[in-house]
Amino acid sequence: MMPVRAQVVACGGYLPERVFTNDDLTRYVATSDHWIQQRTGIRERRIAAAGETTADMATRAARTTLDRAGFTASDLDLIVLATATPDETFPATATMVQARLGMTRGAAFDVHAVCTGFIYALSVADAFLKTGQARTALVIGAETFSRILDWTDRSTCVLFGDGAGAVLLQAAPLNEPATDRGVLSTHIYSDGRHHDALYVDGGPSRTQTVGCLRMEGKEVFRHAIHRMAEASDAALAANGKTAADLDWLVPHQANMRIIEGMARRLELSMDHVVATVDRHANTSAASIPLALFEAVEDGRIRPGHLVLLDGMGGGFTWGSALIRW
Ligand code: ACO
Repeated sequence: MMPVRAQVVACGGYLPERVFTNDDLTRYVATSDHWIQQRTGIRERRIAAAGETTADMATRAARTTLDRAGFTASDLDLIVLATATPDETFPATATMVQARLGMTRGAAFDVHAVCTGFIYALSVADAFLKTGQARTALVIGAETFSRILDWTDRSTCVLFGDGAGAVLLQAAPLNEPATDRGVLSTHIYSDGRHHDALYVDGGPSRTQTVGCLRMEGKEVFRHAIHRMAEASDAALAANGKTAADLDWLVPHQANMRIIEGMARRLELSMDHVVATVDRHANTSAASIPLALFEAVEDGRIRPGHLVLLDGMGGGFTWGSALIRW
């Protein structure tokens, strides 16, 4: 089999219409715009409309991606959807998106790695393309975290938002390294001993309820930069690159202090970092593809750019991907 690389054809995104500012949150919990901005950099987030689901948002992001690429659903042979907030316990939300797009062949399934979900899904799709099991794959990150928040817990409900983003990958022959575009490598990790630092206290098997997100914020913060730096170092080392070679760092958007800490750790100017956390808050698996979509649409990320994706989430899970755009 001829060696192939998963090239990025296009990306897309969708944000719910409803903007929820920090001041809006003061109607629910004792907090302030000042506290939230100072500790997290978040100014506002989008919240899904009543009845608007993860599959709805994922389908919107998927359609935008296909439109930007000039592809139709019949061109796809794989959908990998990262989410921790599926529409139903089963079937996979990916199959709902598949049906709505009108894709009637190939495979569609969900991947669950919470905030690292998009990097996990990208890693799975990349492996499918490299082994010839698929030629064209849609990788989606979509979440409605607003439905699993405890709106009386100020230490968590101020941090998250809803949305969806997607990237279309296509297998292309492997070229000379200097001009080689596509996913150069992916690196995924987990350590299940950290369950109690970040989890949802419900689920079909344990409680037969959906549950709410619970988090030891300081513990997560303590691990975040360390883990994400470890994953970044692995991606750069695997490709013989240094941070100075990067055009863009597109990290998971959890907290501006974590993002700035990562930039400092890589000795990268914030001019080379894509940040959306101020307007989107933490959209978990959707945060990286939404940030990619924004930076591609406004012309910051261009063909040939070297882009590092980096994330960390519940589990703990963490990971990175290096892409020649
Ligand atoms: N408004 C006002 N006060 C608040 C709020 C709020 N929304 N939330 C907590 N406080 C109070 C606390 O009650 C506490 O008060 P006390 O001193 O009287 O007890 C005080 O603020 C300090 O609380 P801490 O939890 O120590 O605040 P900290 O500086 O650690 O910031 C934060 C909390 C923002 C959650 C931080 O720990 C963090 O960002 N952690 C990372 C969490 C994260 O990003 N999780 C996302 C999922 S994982 C991921 O995506 C990487």
